[in-house]
Amino acid sequence: MHKGFTLWFTGMSGAGKSTLSHALERRLRECGAKVELLDGDVVRTHLSKGLGFSKEDRDENIRRIGFVCELLSRNGVIAIVAAISPYRAVREEVRARIADFVEVHVDCPLEVLAERDVKGLYQKALAGEIPNFTGVSDPYEPPLAPEITVNSATETPEESLARIWEALRERQLISYP
Ligand code: ADX
Repeated sequence: MHKGFTLWFTGMSGAGKSTLSHALERRLRECGAKVELLDGDVVRTHLSKGLGFSKEDRDENIRRIGFVCELLSRNGVIAIVAAISPYRAVREEVRARIADFVEVHVDCPLEVLAERDVKGLYQKALAGEIPNFTGVSDPYEPPLAPEITVNSATETPEESLARIWEALRERQLISYP
């Protein structure tokens, strides 16, 4: 009913990666799929504990997550990642190691993210209180050719999820209705 693959959500903090990844995980599980979710916020308390937000540490974080995804995917498990993963080169490095890699760019304008500010981080970052904050005082390099782009400012999570589901079916990675 499904292949092993990696679905990688990239996008700025608060764009909706965690929301979409949890919804996708739930739907896949309800279908009986073997699935694991690697969320940046959680990974950083275990696998990447101690890493910070310099380019070197972020790249290391992404390489570790990518390594786990490679192991899971090649054993028939669906690995879902929700991590900012701001640097294009290391995302491409991970892509090159994984046979079926689906990159989903969760796009959202900075104004909307700053307005939502669920974690209160944008207010601080914009006030200059957080150095190296992605999209404010640190780069975010959007993917040039992602398999899927969703926009959380103009679509509901349900709409985005429906488009992602359809794309997975089209690529014959899942065969659930
Ligand atoms: S990544 O850049 O290495 O991919 P990751 O997704 O694991 O980042 O973690 C991002 C989360 O860390 C954000 O959602 C936010 O809650 C928190 N965070 C703390 N400091 C920063 C920062 N300087 N830039 C971005 N996110 C930060």
